[in-house]
Amino acid sequence: MNHKRVLRLAVTVAATSALAAGMTMTLTSTASAGTTLKASAAEKGRYFGAAVAGQKLSDNTYVTILNREFNSVVAENDMKWDATEPQQGRFVYTGGDRLVSHAQANGQSVRGHALLWYQQQPGWAQNMSGSALRSAMINHVTQVATHFRGKIHSWDVVNEAFADGNSGARRDSNLQRTGNDWIEAAFYAARAADPGAKLCYNDYNTDGINAKSTGIYNMVRDFRSRGVPIDCVGFQSHLGTSLASDYQANLQRFADLGVDVQITELDVMSGGNQANIFAGVTRACMNVSRCTGITTWGVRDCDSWRGSDNALLFECSGNKKAAYTSVLNALNAGPGITPSPTTPGPTTPGPTTPPPTTPPPTTPPPGPDGCTASVSLNSWTGGFVASVKVTAGSAGTNGWNVSVTLPGGASVTNTWSATASGSTGTVRFTNVNYNGRLGAGQVTEFGFQGTGSAAGVTPTCTAS
Ligand code: XIL
Repeated sequence: MNHKRVLRLAVTVAATSALAAGMTMTLTSTASAGTTLKASAAEKGRYFGAAVAGQKLSDNTYVTILNREFNSVVAENDMKWDATEPQQGRFVYTGGDRLVSHAQANGQSVRGHALLWYQQQPGWAQNMSGSALRSAMINHVTQVATHFRGKIHSWDVVNEAFADGNSGARRDSNLQRTGNDWIEAAFYAARAADPGAKLCYNDYNTDGINAKSTGIYNMVRDFRSRGVPIDCVGFQSHLGTSLASDYQANLQRFADLGVDVQITELDVMSGGNQANIFAGVTRACMNVSRCTGITTWGVRDCDSWRGSDNALLFECSGNKKAAYTSVLNALNAGPGITPSPTTPGPTTPGPTTPPPTTPPPTTPPPGPDGCTASVSLNSWTGGFVASVKVTAGSAGTNGWNVSVTLPGGASVTNTWSATASGSTGTVRFTNVNYNGRLGAGQVTEFGFQGTGSAAGVTPTCTAS
């Protein structure tokens, strides 16, 4: 029996007894009983990950905890630019491949970190500028994302591109000086190289609503409105001795833009509040249905880049800390991810009137005041990415739906700039909140990606 089934049963039982007792029931009151971080997170539809330093994979205590508690891993350093392209055009994947093999052998998904960053660049890139650097950086994204294609759950495509402080502006860097569009260029290159990976922007000091997180929020909103392929935002969450009271509200405002959010590098200064802060972050993630997972930046205190801060969930001996228990409890107490619209409808039987025997009239040719859709496919053996263009008719739209009937064996695995209902057969895509309203003749684009073949699909657009 899988965890979801167990959970659903538990919910049903709790609901029945709560109703019998005349109480109101909320999902949050449903306890579950995971006894490891990964099991408890998985019961709630999330992952729980750790950053892994390659050389530690031969340390038994370390690997025992890693495999028992974590179902996601990220390379602490091995997939960074200096590690993967030490000389221009010479790519080294030894460390990254070793981590991917470890993950595949142990049922862990892999976060990719990080394609572009102003730090940990190889010397040759640090000395470059202008169009030479622009093409070198796009080549780097393309080569690395292609090498790991199909093996990465989420890529940090761009790391730490915003300045600290009150400006809300981009950070100055050699990458930034190649032109403000370097970030979107990187996302387009990453999508083309690995259409199956979720593409994230990742940063720190974004643990609440502040000038820096708002600068990033505005960029993500702009990207989403223009169809730049961004799927997620990572909140590093290297924390001190307090947690911003609007930590959850900040995650939620990003989620409301239609991206997933992830806690990507969590560690917390030790001291009286450590367990509470870890629990607060975990609760915030659980309360945001698009918060899909949490990663701590290391396993044990002595593995942490934060030296003597004792910032993680395990002691060096491998013992669990109080912070571990508080995280586990918060995972177990949290709500599961909100079911997607593919959940079956009510079980009450529908009306018994037989369907009309006369065939419905053939669909009229797209009138002036509906909408039309066209699809362009990028296919390879076993998969495809579809870009769909939606054009409003002469009356404009308040919202739109596009239906696509996939051939047998094909299935949608990821969607951007629209919400999918169903994944096989006839799949219905609905606008998200920022791209439903179109003026007469206005065009918007959304996309989806899938396995199998989508050759020959014809989209049908309905306006509302
Ligand atoms: C750190 C690593 O943990 C260290 O081993 C390395 O020396 C420097 O980088 N933000 C990030 C991470 O995105 O890549 C950084 O990792 C920590 C801060």
